[in-house]
Amino acid sequence: MSTTPNTQASDHPAATQAPSCKLSASPHDAPASPPGKRPAPPCTLVIFGAGGDLTKRLLMPALYNLAVDGLLDGGMRIIGVNHGERETSEWREDLHKSLQQFAADKASTFHAGKLDDQAWDWVAQRLEYMAGEFETDDTFTKLKQKLDQSPGGNVIFYLAVGSRFFKPIVEHLGKAGLLKEGGGGSSGFRRLVIEKPFGTDFASARDLNAHILSYAQESQVYRIDHFLGKDTVQSILAVRFANALFEPVWRREYIDSVQISAAETIGVEGRGKFYEQTGAFRDMLPNHLFQLLGMVAMEPPNSFDAEAVRDKKAEVFDAIQPLAPDDVVFGQYEKGPAGVGYREEPNVAPGSTTETYAAARVFVENWRWAGVPFYLRTGKRLAARRTEISVQLKPVPFRLFRDTPVDALTPNVLTLRIDPAHGTSFDFNVKTPGPVMQVGAVQSSFDYADFFTERANVGYETLLYDCMLGDETLFQRADSIETSWCAVDDVLHPKTGGALPVHGYAAGSEGPAEADALLARNGHAWRPLKQHAVEKK
Ligand code: BG6
Repeated sequence: MSTTPNTQASDHPAATQAPSCKLSASPHDAPASPPGKRPAPPCTLVIFGAGGDLTKRLLMPALYNLAVDGLLDGGMRIIGVNHGERETSEWREDLHKSLQQFAADKASTFHAGKLDDQAWDWVAQRLEYMAGEFETDDTFTKLKQKLDQSPGGNVIFYLAVGSRFFKPIVEHLGKAGLLKEGGGGSSGFRRLVIEKPFGTDFASARDLNAHILSYAQESQVYRIDHFLGKDTVQSILAVRFANALFEPVWRREYIDSVQISAAETIGVEGRGKFYEQTGAFRDMLPNHLFQLLGMVAMEPPNSFDAEAVRDKKAEVFDAIQPLAPDDVVFGQYEKGPAGVGYREEPNVAPGSTTETYAAARVFVENWRWAGVPFYLRTGKRLAARRTEISVQLKPVPFRLFRDTPVDALTPNVLTLRIDPAHGTSFDFNVKTPGPVMQVGAVQSSFDYADFFTERANVGYETLLYDCMLGDETLFQRADSIETSWCAVDDVLHPKTGGALPVHGYAAGSEGPAEADALLARNGHAWRPLKQHAVEKK
């Protein structure tokens, strides 16, 4: 995300070529990088979990997209580690097939149409498969031998594995000396990328951080929250800090409330086993939704330097008032217009009390936000897919129009649309045409697609590229992870009253009625998921 990459210029041939979108003739040369961007420095990317879904669905498409854009160095290597013997050629073929399949699938975020053979060949040439268990010394000895072939080289270890493997992999890497930077003649960087879930509560997250930090420095650790890889999420900072219009009113004096929604229409999609342990709250709230809250609520940083941005976000997480159980509502989908109930899904217990929906009222107790409710909600099998943030302004101070037929004005709401729509909209009031002074609500909106050419982008491109450049702006720091979990600890481990009740909602609905009651307490209501646009009269 940094505008000034903090690494040395690469000797990638693309760096000296004229910018062009065209592919070079040889599969060994990457296409030129776009103007203002330069290829990442050469590195070896070691992916633990080479055979997993994340590698297939997100990492490979992202690497392919980076290759198309000429943002990878010709000296890049990709070593995939997984249990089970197989040839590199088989792994390549497998990845190629899935990429082709995703590219052809209109519903996929990687809907690129036809794959570019040259770009794929460029990536494929650099793939190498290594069989190995994640918990045995032998794997790391073998890996060390491979990495020693390019001593002093830069290495990124990507943990695309189940969270139970995080600790053993880091420990083995550490003990094998593979995380050591600058020692033993090695001048290259050693970085660790860790996926979510980063712990399951405050204690486990703190324990995991302590474990990792006993083998690596904080500056080597890149904790991923994939929401931060979305352009529309990064754009929150652009909307706030690149426009004079919004920031002056972006405070408790003018803002009435904020709603942050991540509503999904999908169910648990064969992830019943994982979801039974996790639930909607842990899966989405202290991570993805808090990250969005952080972007909305943070103070302006002095610069876009990673630490400057992360410090300001950390202050927000620190200011979140610990959530009380009665500020949270859990729900679980039941049979409804969108299909079967959660309890009928595969690998789900028939009497499961796991929540598939969570809503919360959150307060950020600082000078800017004291008293402004932030309403967060997420859920599966809801009426619409909608990830967005709506910032509602307070009413105007004086009802100038009270003697006219209109005495209640529609509130101004700025909505930042993250998925599936990409853009913003603003609800405001104008005079309706005609002789009577009547006020009518209208909506002005901006859609990314109307202004920019949107390319198939899986959201990991920026994250991988930034990790190679050493820019940690979009990654989570240990302290923020811990303060986020800390803020929800009373909900996960209530001191009194036992576990939260889980209220039913019909699959395909707007969520449980109890979530409406949570907002009604303050005279608020959720923005409908199904229909947002102001109707034309
Ligand atoms: C993941 C959760 O982190 O985020 C999933 O584990 C959820 O349950 C997903 O579906 C949502 O991400 P996105 O980018 O599809 O909105």
